[in-house]
Amino acid sequence: MFITLEGIEGSGKTTLVQSVVSHCHGIGRDCIATREPGGTPIGEKIRSILLDPRHSAMDPIAEMLLYMADRVQHIRQIIQPALREGKVVVCDRYVDATIVYQGVARGLKPETVIGLHNSLLGGLWPDITLLLDLPPRQGLQRAWRQIDDGERGSEESRFEKETMDFHSKIREGYLARAMAEPNRFRVVNAALPQQEVEAEVVRMVSEALPPDP
Ligand code: TMP
Repeated sequence: MFITLEGIEGSGKTTLVQSVVSHCHGIGRDCIATREPGGTPIGEKIRSILLDPRHSAMDPIAEMLLYMADRVQHIRQIIQPALREGKVVVCDRYVDATIVYQGVARGLKPETVIGLHNSLLGGLWPDITLLLDLPPRQGLQRAWRQIDDGERGSEESRFEKETMDFHSKIREGYLARAMAEPNRFRVVNAALPQQEVEAEVVRMVSEALPPDP
């Protein structure tokens, strides 16, 4: 079973990935947490290029191809082997982020990203995608607080530095993805208190998990 979490900056994905993994372990399921960009040693290097705030001149096509390079390495090295072993894979961001950030917000067209994903990356899609939805202003406040508190490095702040208009496009883009694929997406109100969000996410995952093979 392949589960992804998506959302704007500061939507709380990273903490919730851990909640899903703890839940899976608690019910005896073999489960791994991973993330994009990153998730492999090569991917971590690509991540540092992509998120470096000094790289404001990055071309949108170069950006998209770097995310895809990260993903192909991640699929081959981590995701596919784990799925073959029957594990639950919980991934912090995946192809929907490329469709929304590079496709919708950078203007490269979602169909281009979807076409490349299907042709180059074997079209591996998640079984369920949890979309953590909240207003961009609230998400960005949280994200900057984490940077100011040192929980997240300022060397990874290239996207936090984008305009509010950019972040609003991301939110709308994600909601449009959820409308287009209602069977795969579950939309969670991430503006609620943390415990309620966590309970909702765990409930959605338990409903979707097939019985242990
Ligand atoms: P995060 O680890 O905090 O989610 O940061 C990853 C950043 O990369 C986030 O701002 C979203 C962005 N991103 C894309 O633009 N395209 C992608 O395909 C992925 C996976 C992430």
